[in-house]
Amino acid sequence: MLNEKIAKLVNEQVNKEFYSSYLYLDFANYLADEGLDGFSHWYEIQAREELDHGMMMRRYLIDNGLPCTCAAIAKPDKKLSSVDDVLKAGLEHEQYVTSLINNIYAEAFALKDFKTMQFLDWFIKEQGEEEKNAEDLIKKMSVFGKDAKGLYALNQELAARVYAPSTTGPAM
Ligand code: FEO
Repeated sequence: MLNEKIAKLVNEQVNKEFYSSYLYLDFANYLADEGLDGFSHWYEIQAREELDHGMMMRRYLIDNGLPCTCAAIAKPDKKLSSVDDVLKAGLEHEQYVTSLINNIYAEAFALKDFKTMQFLDWFIKEQGEEEKNAEDLIKKMSVFGKDAKGLYALNQELAARVYAPSTTGPAM
């Protein structure tokens, strides 16, 4: 049986992951409206991956005999007025999510909940990758995105991203 505090934090994180999905969908909507279909597509896939993260955490609760409660998902509140705003907000959000996952990990460590620490290991690694992806996008945008040709090429590159459910992560 999981500790009550850990169960509560994991359940809250289900909601945060679904919020992340909603936030990235909001980014995708903004970018579609700006005519940047490749950028928009990239965030649509990001949104799907976030749903998967939430589902993995939900499954973890259920597989441990605990209820998972669905709370309201907040309205995305980032003010977006340029692609740079979106990319910056994406990185800031991933850094925030990393802090949330680290917090659950720290609580699990303090409670000697090795099972949850092991469950979270994949998310710790995933957060490292997600932050790097967000940083890479910012770098690419600053190098290539400043003229129309470069932006067009970058948009094409991002359009090629393919969604694939994780084969290494926890069950959903
Ligand atoms: Fe599920 Fe991008 O954190």
